[in-house]
Amino acid sequence: MFLQRLGLRDYRNYREVDVTLERGVTVFVGRNGQGKTNLVEALYLLAAGRSHRINSTASLIRKDADTGVVRATIVEHDRALLCEWELNRSTPDRIQMSGNPGKAADLARALSVVMFAPEDISVVRGDPALRRTHVDDISGWLFPRIRGSLADYERTLKQRNSLLKSLRSHGRAARDTSTLDVWDDKLVALGSDIFAARLATLALLKPHVSERYRSIAGADHQPQLSLTPSVDIAPENFADYPTAFAEQLSATRLLDIERGQTGLGPHRDDVALSLNDLPAKGFASHGETWSLVLALRLAELDVKRREGPTGDPIVILDDVFAELDAGRRELLSQSLDDVEQVLITAAVHDDVPAPMSAHLIIISDGAIMPPNESTNL
Ligand SMILES: Nc1ncnc2c1ncn2[C@@H]1O[C@H](COP(=O)(O)OP(=O)(O)OP(=O)(O)O)[C@@H](O)[C@H]1O
Ligand SMILES: [Mg+2]
Repeated sequence: MFLQRLGLRDYRNYREVDVTLERGVTVFVGRNGQGKTNLVEALYLLAAGRSHRINSTASLIRKDADTGVVRATIVEHDRALLCEWELNRSTPDRIQMSGNPGKAADLARALSVVMFAPEDISVVRGDPALRRTHVDDISGWLFPRIRGSLADYERTLKQRNSLLKSLRSHGRAARDTSTLDVWDDKLVALGSDIFAARLATLALLKPHVSERYRSIAGADHQPQLSLTPSVDIAPENFADYPTAFAEQLSATRLLDIERGQTGLGPHRDDVALSLNDLPAKGFASHGETWSLVLALRLAELDVKRREGPTGDPIVILDDVFAELDAGRRELLSQSLDDVEQVLITAAVHDDVPAPMSAHLIIISDGAIMPPNESTNL
């Protein structure tokens, strides 16, 4: 699929912009802070339901405005889909697909986008929550049902935690824990769903990560990614996860009451990433970390391409080339050779490998400049 037209009104630092794009590679160039990331972020919003930089949508509306609009025409097999997201400060957002009311989940199902961004480095180096989100985003695309399970799990967890806190403050005598049973059952059912979806997603990603890592790093450092659940269970027993989760949740109930929070479950899981049997976090060099990050995103591209009904995902490279040495730049550009559409942002045009610089769009202060006004880029 490809993005044929993108219109923004009162989005971030854009008052009004309307840009027509083509298949192949487009490079958005401009100095820092001009609005390059804002532009591609708008497409990511439609596909992912949130910005890649911040969870709340309020900051996406231009300051001083109450409503912002992102409008995109996506073409898939010569069929055009008009996607529209109206962001409102004080009323609920409005989403439309080709004129019909829709939900963020409908957009997510219809659109396929893979975004590479400098922030990706924290998938390897940051907290487990970032790795969980990384896998859950792909899971949610592969298995749309799981988006609901994730939201329900969050809600159930909050309710269970507030019940734990109230049991703690009411003292031992008043501890009628029968209502806790209800939340435990729900948590186990939803958590087991999420666990299974994460496992399935990792299994699909794994072979592609190995292959892509080899081609980007030019060496086989045997990258591994595996789920490390907070529930104590060996990989060979993963099929018994629901039982193990239920048993351990009940065995740790008193501890949970004392702490006022739930110590076990998918919200405490991690995804272990390793190179040559050493954890990538803490051991991998800067270059190796980037190779792993790129391999993870390229694997996502492979999986979405193969498993999705929507053809080629649109690939976004936000400021990525600036992070890479010449060799990796070249290899990344080769890896994306046959993708239907690649959207690149760069502050320095020369950072983008020459074969990728097909169409050039100059961004300056929330506006698109005619090409002849490009200076010092
Ligand atoms: N809600 C908003 N209203 C108005 N301006 C905003 C809003 N949100 C962000 N901005 C402005 O947008 C600009 C940042 O745009 P963006 O992140 O797209 O820059 P960029 O061109 O990608 O820069 P860099 O090369 O540094 O990555 C900043 O000047 C910021 O103040
Ligand atoms: Mg940027």
